[in-house]
Amino acid sequence: MAIRNIREMGDEVLGKVCKEVTQMTPRTRELIEDMLETMYEANGVGLAAPQVGILKRIVVIDTTGEDPHILINPRIVETSGEQTGQEGCLSVPGKSGVVTRPNYVKAVALDVNMQPIELEGTELLARAICHELDHLDGHLYVEKVEGDLMDVTYDDEEEEEE
Ligand code: NI
Repeated sequence: MAIRNIREMGDEVLGKVCKEVTQMTPRTRELIEDMLETMYEANGVGLAAPQVGILKRIVVIDTTGEDPHILINPRIVETSGEQTGQEGCLSVPGKSGVVTRPNYVKAVALDVNMQPIELEGTELLARAICHELDHLDGHLYVEKVEGDLMDVTYDDEEEEEE
């Protein structure tokens, strides 16, 4: 496993649409392991493959630090409610902004064995699912920020970033 370099806003790879994963390979398994390690090392709650420069539809999410979710070719199939709150992104370091997202999200995806799975979540998990899936279509949360992007102060450094 290895820590990969996280691409930052302005890098054109973050604006591209990712390709579906058609088969699991040792290389893709290694990518997923590296994505998890990179996310934990950066204290993030989610990471999408384009953030490490790979245009594949893969995201990893862990909102609690002990419950990693790996989603391959994920799709949101159901949403409800609304939440408005602070959001950040490992590709936009030192910044946060207010974004409105659904309060409940259900996604379908494939797991590392290419078997169908479902993931549903509320609050932070729902927000993370939406945020990470946006990355796969070349979108950053900054496009959805209400008001201005804010600088994260030192005291907020522990805040989760996606
Ligand atoms: Ni992000």
